Formats: sequence, structure tokens, C-alpha cells
Amino acid sequence: MTVRPLSQKLGVNIDHVATLRQARRAAEPSVLEAALEAEQGGADSITVHLREDRRHIQDADVFELSEKIYVPLNLEMSVSSEILKVALHVKPEKACLVPEKRQELTTEGGLDLFSKKKQLVSAIGALFAKKVEVSLFIDPIEEQVREAARLGAYAIEIHTGSYANASGVKQKEEIERIRHAARLGANLGLRIHAGHGLNYENIFPLLEVPEILEFNIGHSIVSRALFVGLSKAVSEMKRIITGGK
Ligand code: PXP
Repeated sequence: MTVRPLSQKLGVNIDHVATLRQARRAAEPSVLEAALEAEQGGADSITVHLREDRRHIQDADVFELSEKIYVPLNLEMSVSSEILKVALHVKPEKACLVPEKRQELTTEGGLDLFSKKKQLVSAIGALFAKKVEVSLFIDPIEEQVREAARLGAYAIEIHTGSYANASGVKQKEEIERIRHAARLGANLGLRIHAGHGLNYENIFPLLEVPEILEFNIGHSIVSRALFVGLSKAVSEMKRIITGGK
């Protein structure tokens, strides 16, 4: 039997509340109100991605959230100097470094820690100096996990997109890749997070990976919120993650 950690945490990504607002360049729905609702539902942290193209979250959202929410703010960000400047000013409790391409619909694939090493080292150092816990969003690949530890990251967030998109035997293989990466990362002293494409059904097998301490989930929760409200959508996911505790 797998022994699960006492409390696996839920980070709620509210980017798509801003997506709806930006569709009209209007004032509603309020990203802050969404964050507070998510907190009420049991979110352990609030995640937003300040993209270089500002397609959803805006700089002002990040400033406002950092001042007004109660749980830690987790800023997803590329290592571009412009975004780093915002992050160093805001000093969120956590930052998750992600790759970013202009044309993508959402983050595709994890960071290649070998190709942008210089920028990563400098971003990690600058963020750590401001006491920001830095995680690196990577695919479940052994060399990437080892490199994350060498770079001195606080955590890795394992990209679960391939798992979420797979089915049958392929999905089982993806779980094994995640399990292996999580175990290796934990042995190397990294905290293990996971996210991307997770929903109310496919999360279950990952709950059995005891090294995963935090899940970051956005699209499925915001989608469900349309029908049941955000606080309830979050509390339903939280209940799944904590096993009803
Ligand atoms: N974690 C990271 C690093 C992401 O880039 C995203 C998407 O913004 C998520 C988690 C959440 O993914 P989803 O919206 O598919 O739940």
C-alpha cells in the first residue's frame, strides 16, 4: 500500500478568469474575487501566469493579488528580463519558471534546463535573493530532474500534460515516468509539485505518488466553476486531494 503524505496541497490557477475578462477588455470577472473564492474553497495557494503577451493576467492583477490574498501567491513566469523585473518587485512567495512560446494555446512541454542554463541560473539566484521559492516546470525526464537539483531549485513541478493526454497502456507508462521522476527528485532533496491538464477524474492515480506534495490545477476547476461556483469547484477538488479529510 502506498503511504500518502499527510496533506497534499492544492494550488488553484485562475488565469482563465482573466481570459474571460480580457475577452471584453472589461472589469469583470474580478481576478481578486476569484482568488478569494478559491481560498474559501480551500485553495492552499493561488497561481497565475503573467505571460509575455499578457493574454490573460495583467501586471496589475499580480500586484493586487500579492497584496490582498491570504494564501501564498505562486507566479508562473518565463525567464524574460521584463517578467523577472515584475517578479522581483512583487516578491511572490513562490515562482514557477516555465517555457513560453507566443503562439501556443497553453504551456507546451517543460523547460529544457540545459538550453537556457545561463538565464535560469541568474533568474533562480535573483529570486532566491528575494526569498522566493523557485520551482522549475519540467517533463518527467531523469536528466532534467538531476539538472534541477544541480541548479539549486527549491522544487520541480512535473509536467503532467502527456499523462493527461494519454490513455490505456500509454497512460500507465506516463504514470510510471512521473513516479520515477518524483522519487528521484525527492531523493535529490527537491520538493515535488505536479500540474497541467489535471481534472476531477485523472488526478486519482497521481494521488498515489507519495512524493507529490502539491498539485497546480486551473482549467478544469474554472470550467466546473461555471456550473457550481468557484468556491465549490475548488472544495470538490480539495476533497479529492485530501481524501475527504
Ligand atoms: N502548472 C503549470 C506550470 C502551468 O503552466 C499550468 C497552465 O497554466 C498549470 C499548472 C495548470 O494547468 P491546467 O490549466 O491545465 O490545469
